[in-house]
Amino acid sequence: MRHLLTVTDLDRAAAGALLDEAERFEQALLGREVHKLPTLRGRTVMTVFFENSTRTRVSFEVAGKWMSADVINVSASSSSVAKGESLRDTALTLHAAGADALIVRHPASGAAHQIAHWFEDWSRRSGSAVPAVINAGDGMHEHPTQALLDALTLRQRLGDIAGRRVVIVGDILHSRVARSNAFLLSTLGAEVVLVAPRTLLPVGVEDWPVRVSVDVDSELPGADAVLMLRVQAERMNGGFFPSAREYAVRYGLSERRVALLDEHAVVLHPGPMLRGMEIASSVADSPRAAVLQQVTNGVHMRMAVLFRLLVGVQEAAA
Ligand code: CP
Repeated sequence: MRHLLTVTDLDRAAAGALLDEAERFEQALLGREVHKLPTLRGRTVMTVFFENSTRTRVSFEVAGKWMSADVINVSASSSSVAKGESLRDTALTLHAAGADALIVRHPASGAAHQIAHWFEDWSRRSGSAVPAVINAGDGMHEHPTQALLDALTLRQRLGDIAGRRVVIVGDILHSRVARSNAFLLSTLGAEVVLVAPRTLLPVGVEDWPVRVSVDVDSELPGADAVLMLRVQAERMNGGFFPSAREYAVRYGLSERRVALLDEHAVVLHPGPMLRGMEIASSVADSPRAAVLQQVTNGVHMRMAVLFRLLVGVQEAAA
């Protein structure tokens, strides 16, 4: 595996190996006062985010630093992008400056794939090593490390994912988290149900390995997990149907709805959460919710991904 651009590049064995690797990193760090492994000493990891982020950017930075990599965060707003530099020139500049891995978030679907293509091409012509490209969210397309950390969280809470029913609720149309989770969880053997108003379902969803519903109440009983999504107002050009109020009533995860879930069922949200609209505060802060466990798992998962791309398939803690 040279890059991580899409979960569809991972078969069940490859995805399972990454989940195992993340847990090995968790174990390797357990009880240590100093969170520092020598694994990536001398390697340079760069992040460049053209969209806002808290969890993904910070957890990649923590992951790199805990593995002793030199981590450089490029802020798109204070870089030469603000002077009009193209994405290609920006990416190749970071390649030429010595990136071993580039973690990129961009509003355009396919941006990370395009950068990987430019890197392959330039490395072939220049005889230099190809930096690994990690897709940290490309428009409405994919967010592979989010799906991996969600799968890790589900495995920790539920045991084997195969045969489990995961209900994903909300703004499926604009959600790269929904797409990556739908495909990855299905690869891992879960039954995935997408629940959304028809206006928030993407064209072509019938080709995804999922079942689709518009009625959240009928889908919660029997679910092993419910993954709530953020409503992405920034991608809606000022329009949103249903209204925020109607959405909260018809799709928000209220205490009444949580009571429809089985005792063991877990609640996930990738964050950032719109409390009171997508999810009641009392639900988000309840022991059933795994929101902060997802964040912690994000660090271990991103350590596993960096390790796999930059070192290979040896024992993580070696
Ligand atoms: N889940 C997620 O991608 O969060 P951030 O936008 O804060 O990185």
